[in-house]
Amino acid sequence: MSVRSRRFVPLAALTLLAGLTVTVVTTEPAVAATPLRTLAAAKGKFIGYAANPTPLANETAYRTIAGSEFNQVTPENALKWDATEPSQGNFTFGQADQVVAFARANNQIVHGHTLVWHSQTPGWVQGLNASAMRIAMQNHIANVVGRYANDPIVQSWDVVNEVFNEDGTLRQSFWFNTLGSGFIADAFRAARAADSDAKLCINDYNVEGVNAKSTAMFNLVQSLKSQGVPIDCVGFQSHLATQFSFPSQVTQNVARFAGLGVQVRFTELDVRMPLPSNDSTRATQNQYYTGIVNACLGSAACSGVTIWGFTDKYSWVPGTFPGQGEALIYDANYNPKAAYTAVNSALGDGTGGDTSPPTAPTNLTASGVTSSSVNLSWGASSDNVGVTGYDVLRNGSTVATVAGTSTTVTGLSASTAYQFAVRAHDAAGNNSANSNTVSVTTLPGGGGGGGCSVAATVQSQWNNGYVLQPITVMNTGSSPITSWTVTFTLPSGHTLVGSPPGWNAVFTASGSTVTAKNMSYNGTLSPFSSTTFGFQAARPDGNTALPSGYACSAS
Ligand code: XIL
Repeated sequence: MSVRSRRFVPLAALTLLAGLTVTVVTTEPAVAATPLRTLAAAKGKFIGYAANPTPLANETAYRTIAGSEFNQVTPENALKWDATEPSQGNFTFGQADQVVAFARANNQIVHGHTLVWHSQTPGWVQGLNASAMRIAMQNHIANVVGRYANDPIVQSWDVVNEVFNEDGTLRQSFWFNTLGSGFIADAFRAARAADSDAKLCINDYNVEGVNAKSTAMFNLVQSLKSQGVPIDCVGFQSHLATQFSFPSQVTQNVARFAGLGVQVRFTELDVRMPLPSNDSTRATQNQYYTGIVNACLGSAACSGVTIWGFTDKYSWVPGTFPGQGEALIYDANYNPKAAYTAVNSALGDGTGGDTSPPTAPTNLTASGVTSSSVNLSWGASSDNVGVTGYDVLRNGSTVATVAGTSTTVTGLSASTAYQFAVRAHDAAGNNSANSNTVSVTTLPGGGGGGGCSVAATVQSQWNNGYVLQPITVMNTGSSPITSWTVTFTLPSGHTLVGSPPGWNAVFTASGSTVTAKNMSYNGTLSPFSSTTFGFQAARPDGNTALPSGYACSAS
């Protein structure tokens, strides 16, 4: 039964029931849900699907849902290189044109996916030498983008896809290996040359939250923009899985890209789960769909969300992730799932997405304070749907997001006062109020307790004086330091010699305490590297005392 006819069953039933006295209890909604596209449009967003041309041509249920629920479409495979230019110079657009025609008939916008990718690209491209490959890339982009450049519904392109490794380095694809990193800017310039007003995007997976890969993408987009390379949008694929955490800090990630002046879009959303599914995995799926939709609704820079298909009947998941599936919002028989309701609610049909924040964490306590770190623990928050993580705030700014209810904050400066608080968030991006605040003053540095160590050597001494050289400062922490401060106690009657005294440090004395700070040229030390300084001092004739109490702190 198609969804459209299923939708009208309750209305027909009401008419029939009007003259009867029986009461029917039904789990069907009494009123048909407002289509996703209507709700999204009211919020100024698109809600899209990845189109498969075969059921689009052959299955009424597929066509009905595709046309009535979505106002945007991305051809799932039809615009990839192996579909559009299977052999050099022979361009084929049959399936792409079919999707575009359906989109036009149903008042949908089209996103072109994808021009330059290491996958689904024919062997003939991969075997070219550098100059031939660059020409082939430019020719491909000119032809594919050019074909739709004057079509007002084809509005955007994934120019490059999946150029990063998980650690943020560039993927060693045949593109990179043959052309170097410059292929990225070249591809964007070629796309702009072919279409003066299309939105040109970079797209990748595992970049929804804040992590090494998304940070690399952020840096690349910033760099491309600073060079005047035409880049307009960033795509977060959003292939999520219930056995993994919801990506952390999605809202913050969207916000930082928005700050670069690019559009953001969630381009390939699906939420797979191990099979067989159960109530728990299905509930998690609903939360994840809600979380992504809310993340888009929460930012004016987000143009919309595309779901990677809509029916489990044609999802790429079972074929790619064996043992997993049920990733989409309609089941294999075209019935809307709870995930559909989650998306529908989040888009705002009046039943409401999850807008309830978790309760504030309680009893934040600090322990194990060192010169550079502190342990924090707190009582767990509760939430109507579920807490998905905690933000650790240092002096009001988030410095970490963690899953559990304790953490060790590192990288602190010695002898410094900090204020810590934590807050909880849920999958929909609702933040709790802050916990109680704890104030922590880190211990002084020195003795290898964190930050830096100091070791002083007496080079020579005589009856009324001595030279301390080298006094070695080492970065004993795990991150670079940019400045260090050594303090020590000068015995009574001793004075520093020279004006200014000493070398390779700036000395100041206050009573018997001497402070030696780095010069401009020797403050920066990577972990386990060291620098030296020294000084000469005078002491009363016959006095054998030497300075003591050396301590080092770093920042
Ligand atoms: C997938 C399609 O869904 C499959 O039908 C095809 O066999 C392989 O590609 N990232 C992308 C998409 O950018 O193009 C991929 O689509 C899924 C991962």
